[in-house]
Amino acid sequence: MIKWLFNELLEVDSTQNVLRKLGTTGVGEGTVVVARRQTAGQGRHGRNWVSPEGGLYMSLLLRPPPTAALRSLTLASSLAVARGIKKETGLETSLRWPNDVMVGGKKVAGVIAESNYIGQGLVFVIVGIGVNCNSRSFPKDLSNSATSLAEQKGSDVDILSLRQAVLDSFATIHEEWIGGKDVVSVAKSITETIGKQVTITMKSGGVREGVAHDIEQAGGLVLDLGERKLVVQAEDVELLRER
Ligand code: BTN
Repeated sequence: MIKWLFNELLEVDSTQNVLRKLGTTGVGEGTVVVARRQTAGQGRHGRNWVSPEGGLYMSLLLRPPPTAALRSLTLASSLAVARGIKKETGLETSLRWPNDVMVGGKKVAGVIAESNYIGQGLVFVIVGIGVNCNSRSFPKDLSNSATSLAEQKGSDVDILSLRQAVLDSFATIHEEWIGGKDVVSVAKSITETIGKQVTITMKSGGVREGVAHDIEQAGGLVLDLGERKLVVQAEDVELLRER
């Protein structure tokens, strides 16, 4: 089972940046960088992750073997966060493919997985986790889509206990994921995207519209386009809108 080794910081630009530098110096699997606030928190696709004090912001370093099913790591990590939140707060959580953790129909947490290579060889992976914990207000453009645990629960959460709950569930799911267990099916069972009509803007610029039909073993979303099915991989998606 993975053992966590903490680097606790007050303020950083991004815990991803700090851990990426540490990763290149050879620190071990389980190294965690956690910060009370971030000045340039990174979301997926170069988006900003608003990170004032009162949230959980951490990055975890993994050194998966070459056989690991890397493409499903984002989904597996999102499942771990959803479970940790549920265990700590009792709130019902679900996922929006591939990396959003939802409570009450709004996004409460996000996950980003970043692989670092030398040449063709994977050296380490950084999983970044951001949870909106005790914030009660959001920037205008996020107020319809984002929420916090405190907002949903009606009282503040203990960020340290939440951190431990998320890391405990991450360690368990990581063990299963490394061992080749079908973590994707479990994640799928709480993914609310399935069955919904979605519009996906691809990084390549194209737009795909269809019904989210399934999640395949590698973590890709199977889209039913009507005349045929298409598997879309998380790393190729710029934006997914559910209708
Ligand atoms: C997303 O939903 O787009 C992913 C958000 C990930 C945010 C976390 S906060 C801790 C870590 N450091 C960062 O700069 N980003 C991740």
